[in-house]
Amino acid sequence: MRIRISRLFLLTSLVPWTMADITNRMSSFSYGPNVLQTYDVYIPQGKQDENPSCETYWLVYIHGGYYRDFSVNSTSVQPSIEVLESRNITDFNNTIEKVAGVASLNYRLSALPGVQDPSTTPENKLQTARWPDHLNDVLAALRDLNSHYPIDGQYVISGHSVGAQMAFLAALRTLNDTTIPKPVAVLGVSGIYDFPQILRTNPEYTNLTLNAINETNLGSASPAVYPGELYEKLDLKAVALQWLWRIVTMMDLCPGIKWRR
Ligand SMILES: *[C@@H]1O[C@H](CO)[C@@H](O)[C@H](O)[C@H]1NC(C)=O
Ligand SMILES: *[C@@H]1O[C@H](CO)[C@@H](O)[C@H](O)[C@H]1NC(C)=O
Ligand SMILES: *[C@@H]1O[C@H](CO)[C@@H](O)[C@H](O)[C@H]1NC(C)=O
Ligand SMILES: *[C@@H]1O[C@H](CO)[C@@H](O)[C@H](O)[C@H]1NC(C)=O
Ligand SMILES: *[C@@H]1O[C@H](CO)[C@@H](O)[C@H](O)[C@H]1NC(C)=O
Ligand SMILES: *[C@@H]1O[C@H](CO)[C@@H](O)[C@H](O)[C@H]1NC(C)=O
Repeated sequence: MRIRISRLFLLTSLVPWTMADITNRMSSFSYGPNVLQTYDVYIPQGKQDENPSCETYWLVYIHGGYYRDFSVNSTSVQPSIEVLESRNITDFNNTIEKVAGVASLNYRLSALPGVQDPSTTPENKLQTARWPDHLNDVLAALRDLNSHYPIDGQYVISGHSVGAQMAFLAALRTLNDTTIPKPVAVLGVSGIYDFPQILRTNPEYTNLTLNAINETNLGSASPAVYPGELYEKLDLKAVALQWLWRIVTMMDLCPGIKWRR
């Protein structure tokens, strides 16, 4: 009862939370020499420490942009954090209380013809990644994040579009690579899960896709082609696919997950 009262007090005594407050609370980490080999960490206001527990989890977010959109990056998660920090409990049970921390990952992008001039662009800014460089960057970011914050077995991995694709592939990689922290749940938002199928149904995506992924890798880059048994082995508490960009409603992870929309 006492906890409830103090929580209520905390909620009603909060002043409005602006985007500037959010960016001020962001810290950046670098896991490689490229300017996009970085990630941002956000610890919600009022959190005494960032250690996850039965009650709180980390949320790792991987942005989309089809490996080529320079205007989409780790900062794309900030409006979602702003919604969470508004702690608007009249909408749905706003769940920032369950979030120990948010990490938003950058990864190197592929060369989009005409966007960067390789002869004048500094090496560390040049984006010439080819699949699986993007995924390897995500894995390196997860390892680095886990070395700063103990997220192993205590985080939800999420992503939008190709970020969702990499969220699932990163989760699968934990089966074979124990240096990668294991997620407790995967959330895909409007994900790209089957490249060969997309190229069949939407041939206009062919060049865009081959701009980043060699044809021979399209299958292994597609979460949909991996057998269900591998996903079962992950022993996740939840897998969620969302098609509308609605803020992640973190769930009651103890004892089991209930996803809400
Ligand atoms: C991230 O995206 C924002 C918004 O498009 C942009 O202003 C910023 O320069 C980008 N940051 C990097 C490191 O590319
Ligand atoms: C809180 O959520 C409700 C329901 O979605 C909405 O009508 C209201 O405008 C929100 N309040 C704020 C301060 O965002
Ligand atoms: C919010 O949480 C309370 C307590 O867990 C629960 O009783 C209620 O049904 C929840 N409301 C919504 C809209 O999910
Ligand atoms: C893990 O390794 C096994 C055996 O080498 C391989 O068959 C499987 O495809 C790998 N799984 C992933 C997700 O990489
Ligand atoms: C796709 O790329 C090929 C070879 O690079 C080029 O010949 C073709 O015109 C491109 N198609 C479209 C629709 O841009
Ligand atoms: C992709 O194919 C090109 C040749 O078309 C090759 O030079 C390159 O090494 C391949 N990259 C990967 C990651 O397989």
